[in-house]
Amino acid sequence: MAKFILAHTPDLAGQAMKTVALSSGERVPALGQGCWYMGENRAARAQEIATLRLGLDLGITLVDAAEMYGEGKAEELIGEAIAGRRDEAFLVTKVYPHNATRKGVLAACERSLKRLRTDRIDLYLLHWRGSVPFAETMDAFMTLQKAGKIRHYGVSNLDLEDIQELWSVPGGKSVATDQLLYNLTRRGIEWDLLPWLRKQRIPVMAYSPIEQGRLVRSPKLADSAKRQGMTAAQAALAWLLAKDDIIAIPKTAHRERLKENAGALELTLSSEQLAELDKLFPPPQGPRPLEML
Ligand SMILES: NC(=O)c1ccc[n+]([C@@H]2O[C@H](COP(=O)([O-])OP(=O)(O)OC[C@H]3O[C@@H](n4cnc5c(N)ncnc54)[C@H](OP(=O)(O)O)[C@@H]3O)[C@@H](O)[C@H]2O)c1
Repeated sequence: MAKFILAHTPDLAGQAMKTVALSSGERVPALGQGCWYMGENRAARAQEIATLRLGLDLGITLVDAAEMYGEGKAEELIGEAIAGRRDEAFLVTKVYPHNATRKGVLAACERSLKRLRTDRIDLYLLHWRGSVPFAETMDAFMTLQKAGKIRHYGVSNLDLEDIQELWSVPGGKSVATDQLLYNLTRRGIEWDLLPWLRKQRIPVMAYSPIEQGRLVRSPKLADSAKRQGMTAAQAALAWLLAKDDIIAIPKTAHRERLKENAGALELTLSSEQLAELDKLFPPPQGPRPLEML
């Protein structure tokens, strides 16, 4: 696996930020900030806001939310954190499957816009597949896009069969990404879904990239990483960032950890290290059902 740096955009600190192309060609930071469980605890609020703002300073400007997170509280927190800095951020949020009807999407989007204190969402995702036909959700996404309320749309947690079905629906082929559970311990998508998405030039947004913190506590990863002068979190993220079509969105509410995670952008894993990680965390040997968290 080679390290591809396809393009760089300067961030505020004057550093180069690795970027990944969405299917439209627009480039977004390869490292973003996840926000699940943010905005739910008053005592942590100031620290969470300071971390999100530091992310903007460091060029980690892609911010991932969902109407589900704290039932809107994460979006409200982000709205507060980016006040006065909206244009620096690339805002991703998601609609619940039960709101994914033609009318439901339009209403949910208005609520998210209000909480995020903005007039546009950069990338709006269907959070997972529910019972609403894809055609209805895509129709609503296209309406929102034409109105300028969302710039791109996409999906999350769609397995191969689902996304192939989406392909037959008007607007389905224009999805910008499939946001999926992907990390060293969750490599199932490498069997068939990831190769198919690559063929369509659809990047993956890898969620829970450090397995909700569990990879940081993995003795085998910590040992391997330490021998290379990096932390376990950095090794887990650098492994994802070594691919040219993966956007990793770790969540942290701590500035020191955000800086540590950002350090993964500076690291290139050697072929020996990649081979060792394949031994420790083997790739799939056959098809596996899509995992979700
Ligand atoms: N589409 C979906 O269905 C879906 C599902 C799950 C997640 N997501 C998105 O993906 C984002 C990331 O996934 P996630 O939050 O589930 O898991 P994650 O990013 O893999 O891990 C987050 C956890 O790791 C801790 N952490 C982060 N950096 C660390 C470091 N350097 N050292 C030690 N601990 C560290 C965080 O704690 P602190 O915050 O206390 O630092 C937090 O408990 C979410 O926030 C959400 O935006 C999407």
